Amino acid sequence: MNCRESINQADRPLEEALLNDWHVVATSEEVVPGKLVPTMLFGRELVAWRDSAGQAYVWEDLCIHRGARLSKGFIQSDRVVCPYHGWNYDGSAQCVLMPASPNETPMKKAKAIPHHVKEAYGFIWACMGEPANDIPAFPEWDDPSYKKVVCGPYEFKSGYRALENFIDPTHFPFVHAGVNGIMDQPDPIGAYDVFEKNGGLATSEVQVTQPYGDPREVPVMAYYAYQCLRPLVAYFKKRVVITDPERASEGSPDDRFCTFFTAQQVDETRSIVRICCAMNFSPQPTDADVRRRQDLVYAQDSAIVNTQRPERIPVDLRMELHHRTDLLGQKYRMWLRNMGVSYGTV
Ligand code: FES
Ligand SMILES: [Fe+2]
Repeated sequence: MNCRESINQADRPLEEALLNDWHVVATSEEVVPGKLVPTMLFGRELVAWRDSAGQAYVWEDLCIHRGARLSKGFIQSDRVVCPYHGWNYDGSAQCVLMPASPNETPMKKAKAIPHHVKEAYGFIWACMGEPANDIPAFPEWDDPSYKKVVCGPYEFKSGYRALENFIDPTHFPFVHAGVNGIMDQPDPIGAYDVFEKNGGLATSEVQVTQPYGDPREVPVMAYYAYQCLRPLVAYFKKRVVITDPERASEGSPDDRFCTFFTAQQVDETRSIVRICCAMNFSPQPTDADVRRRQDLVYAQDSAIVNTQRPERIPVDLRMELHHRTDLLGQKYRMWLRNMGVSYGTV
């Protein structure tokens, strides 16, 4: 058993559905060259860094020599230098210098524990096992007619509860009164379909009234099509139709507001939500306008979602009450359960 396998077996092994999947561990912006960025995923301590050529790395935050934390060290000449005895690890994670014996070639086994890394949509993704799939698709990312803005980080207890909230339009009039819904006139939510799509879940459109439905600050009728892409990654494409007749000419039938949602499950009851919004209407809002609205909405969400008990989401459907309008959330929990996701769930 190599070091990586033994770490995967340590304490409580992470189930394969999560171990062999890609997870966001930082935004691209956070990981600047020359800096060691400690991060944590499913209770495992990791370190992210970037070399001078721009390549990002995610390793166990552990020196194989005596187990010191590499993130407490520093980067020199594109090598990670351990803070304890100064072993130098190059981009392949191989130890290339042991300062106590500078003329000796370090043994092959003297290697840090690297993870698979991808960088996409403004995020750094890591897979701690062997990737079973590619990272999920975000179709608007490569479409130049869409402006993209990365928002967050937002702190939640459960990434799964945060995701379930993200795909739940029935909370809008209450949690986001005056923004995503109207408290005195909550929309009745009509029947919608949930179907399987590319191994995940997708819905038909769900219609809601939004007084401040996107950064244009104009009342819209919004039509959400949701997708659960991975256990901790979701997406919606929202068709927006301006309802104020005086401002209707500002809109176009092609207007869309999309959000790609990711949650980094730090440990069983802590997570970090990061999102990327994509919009194609004009005039295009500024990054600051987009972030202002998202920061408001996610602060409203976390204020409620972080009060939910149990903090770990129940995947046994008998544990909470489900209504027809919660169909997607209900299917999401069943999907998690069928995948064998148990970390951070009850
Ligand atoms: S523990 Fe890292 S060099 Fe000794
Ligand atoms: Fe919300």
